[in-house]
Amino acid sequence: MVKKNACVFISGKGTNLRNLIIQSREYNFPINIKLVISNNKNAYGITHAKKNSIPYLIVDTKKRYFEYDLLKILKENKISLICLAGYMRILSKKFIESYTKKIINIHPSLLPKYKGLDTFKRILTNKDCKTGCTVHYVNEKLDSGNIIIKKTFFIEKTDNEKSLKYKTQKLEYLAFPEAIRKIFRAN
Ligand code: GRF
Repeated sequence: MVKKNACVFISGKGTNLRNLIIQSREYNFPINIKLVISNNKNAYGITHAKKNSIPYLIVDTKKRYFEYDLLKILKENKISLICLAGYMRILSKKFIESYTKKIINIHPSLLPKYKGLDTFKRILTNKDCKTGCTVHYVNEKLDSGNIIIKKTFFIEKTDNEKSLKYKTQKLEYLAFPEAIRKIFRAN
């Protein structure tokens, strides 16, 4: 199978990145991770790129034309899918338009509920009975693009922010690869 070139954007631990790297080693997984982008030079996730000999780039989002330079690099690497995996910066409308329907994000709630930050805290405050994660296309509105896949679990009385994060991330490791498979089956 001819795999598509993908790029993963991170800001932190990179456990989703690690999982996608493992998945991409499967011969029938539709993408190869060609490049990792981090806006944070201290992101632990960079070690996963290093260990797996995947080129990585630290971007300075304060630099005026950083997205312009980044787009150039993505095009040079023939990147056809961008996976936002815990990337904590907003991409400009122009950037998103250059990769329409080719940028996906993983979010730790059942969208459209709880867009933005502090999802677990808000879920507990509202005493929801279930939660989960969502993989969606990225558009210019925060956490609002078309949904590709959601995965759900029931919240227990004993759950706290830490346990919700743990359970949500366990589902994310299934949802992200499943969403990528789904995208390329549909194309
Ligand atoms: C994930 O839980 C995802 O839902 C959110 O950021 C987190 C990133 O975690 N967008 P990691 O860096 O992949 O461990």
